[in-house]
Amino acid sequence: MKAAEIRRKYIDFFKKRNHVEIKSAPLIPENDPTCLFTTAGMHPLVPYLLGAKHPAGKRLTDYQKCIRTGDIDEVGDAVHLTFFEMLGNWSLGDYFKKEMIGMSFEFLTGKENLNIPVDMLAVTVFAGDGDCPFDEEAFNEWRSHGIPEERIAKLGKKDNWWGPAGTTGPCGPDTEMFYWTGPLPAPQVFDPADKRWVEIWNDVFMQYNKTADGKFEPLAQRNVDTGMGLERVTAILQGKTSCYETEIFAPIFAKLDEIRGITVAPEVRTSSERIIADHLRAATFILADGITPGKVDQPYVLRRLIRRAIREGRKLGITEPFTAKIADAVIAEFGDVYPELREKADIIREELTREEKQFAVTLEKGTHEFQKLIDRVPAHIEKKIISGKNAFNLYETYGFPIELTEEMAREKGFQVDRAGYDAAFAKHQEMSRAGAEQKFKGGLADSSEATAALHSATHLLQAALRKVLGTHVEQRGSNITAERLRFDFSHEEKLTPEQLKQVEDLVNDAIRRDLPIICEEMDLETAKKSGAMGLFENKYDAKVKVYTMGDVSKEICGGPHAKRTGELGVFKIKKEESSSRGVRRIKAVLER
Ligand code: ALA
Repeated sequence: MKAAEIRRKYIDFFKKRNHVEIKSAPLIPENDPTCLFTTAGMHPLVPYLLGAKHPAGKRLTDYQKCIRTGDIDEVGDAVHLTFFEMLGNWSLGDYFKKEMIGMSFEFLTGKENLNIPVDMLAVTVFAGDGDCPFDEEAFNEWRSHGIPEERIAKLGKKDNWWGPAGTTGPCGPDTEMFYWTGPLPAPQVFDPADKRWVEIWNDVFMQYNKTADGKFEPLAQRNVDTGMGLERVTAILQGKTSCYETEIFAPIFAKLDEIRGITVAPEVRTSSERIIADHLRAATFILADGITPGKVDQPYVLRRLIRRAIREGRKLGITEPFTAKIADAVIAEFGDVYPELREKADIIREELTREEKQFAVTLEKGTHEFQKLIDRVPAHIEKKIISGKNAFNLYETYGFPIELTEEMAREKGFQVDRAGYDAAFAKHQEMSRAGAEQKFKGGLADSSEATAALHSATHLLQAALRKVLGTHVEQRGSNITAERLRFDFSHEEKLTPEQLKQVEDLVNDAIRRDLPIICEEMDLETAKKSGAMGLFENKYDAKVKVYTMGDVSKEICGGPHAKRTGELGVFKIKKEESSSRGVRRIKAVLER
């Protein structure tokens, strides 16, 4: 079964069971300061898992584009990916364990669905511990569908628990489903330590709220959150050990072969080829969501992906620009499912080519410089180190991301003095790229008063910027903590002190007028017609929330917000700077 068919079957299965299909959210989380990329289908849904009303209802399903960079160094082997698609479905206070396990069983084994024989399946359930009891209900439910006891493993929190998204909040036991990939017949008894049992689906049952003192209280709204990795399930159902051997990557590899003028069999792809395919697929999707290569945060990750792919290309003997050609293959393959790829095709190609040209100039010189550092150290020295200062020089002068230097060093048996590099970097750069590897903590879960006020201030800021600079100003990113807002928007030039003052004054003026902040639910078309601003292409197709603040601002948003602008305090811009090419960034606070 092909990936496209699995994706369609999944969505249709849940639609038939009264779920509303929602669109994949962008890869860049809106208003989540703790996380650079969307890491799971549940990530954009955190506010709704916490009890906010979702405009599309209580039963949702989608395929969500995700990026996880935690294992980026592992990419190149048979299984790791940075970009992947997650199929998911949610119950927001609607059905719970019985129905979900029933639906999982049906989707996995049903003839018209995945049609997996029951004896190829095994499951895990939460064993219980000092905090929370054994998940007997899930256990019994699987038993009722004919999964034998010896195929149900009971595991602790380390394996069978999800959440909370932050240190406190909704969480609960999960049940994971495994498929046997070894020689047939599958063993009677399930041993979760046997890696030939591969996890294909995870049903999370959010039924507890973890409190600040570490207690687990039953939740009023019990949710279901499930996730199935599309690439992995496709490979497994096709009997392949690697997702890189499936049709998902075939057009990308075919393009790479064409560029190199050779043909390679799918089973013998090298690590360089896989890195190129994975990283440029990820880069294409990130570019489509409005990020361009740069020095911090998502732009930095993007740059790192592109540059690493280019270097692997050099290893394969590719000297001509090739990244935009690979992107074309990605766009052609995924453009129907993710229309933003086609809409942004020109920008994607342009940005890749620009980055590739820029990097090509210095890559050769930098590699030469790097080799000199290596040659300088006599072979008999055991601990071979590249100093932080030299690593920083490779970054500053030749544009080598530190991770690239570290990787090249490893290949030569060297280590990089990372602490020394970081110190040199901090000295030269005001902006720190700390946080580039932050794990998912769930800033969307924060709906405190301070955060809500900053959300509202962000709407006023956008309206003010459009008034002062022009209507070309559009949101490119928003990131809010309880302390400050950070707003990225399209605009070419640095703002003058006068413009900044005007913007500040306009926002404070709206605050002084104490406008009511009104939330209305409407369908997307009505919202568009009403003149509401928002990133329409990224929104759920059913209903949206529109926040209106007098005659100043009307914007689509998931909230949370203050009740009146008068509650916001005094708005102060702390910083205005470049975020990436054509995008400016404002950091601002509310003094209350
Ligand atoms: N949120 C769960 C996961 O990512 C479903 O596995």
